[in-house]
Amino acid sequence: MFVIDEQPIGIFRIDGEYFALDNRCPHAGASLAHGIVHGDTVACRIHHWHFCIRDGTYLDESEPKFNVRCFPVRIVGQLVQVQI
Ligand code: FES
Repeated sequence: MFVIDEQPIGIFRIDGEYFALDNRCPHAGASLAHGIVHGDTVACRIHHWHFCIRDGTYLDESEPKFNVRCFPVRIVGQLVQVQI
């Protein structure tokens, strides 16, 4: 987990590709970076809500208000850069 301009960011790597999500679970604010990753989903460790790592979609129901923000990522040399 990293903080950029006061925004906590969870960085995930799937098959060599990097993704950046708002690290705060929309349910109660737990760290998604400390969640349980299966494929391209992450489950929050506290109450097990599931999110798509690729785009931040909340997967347990169709409730867009619980989606987490996803940020563009690019790799420059050995740096992972996140645009917020
Ligand atoms: S804090 Fe993440 S599911 Fe409750």
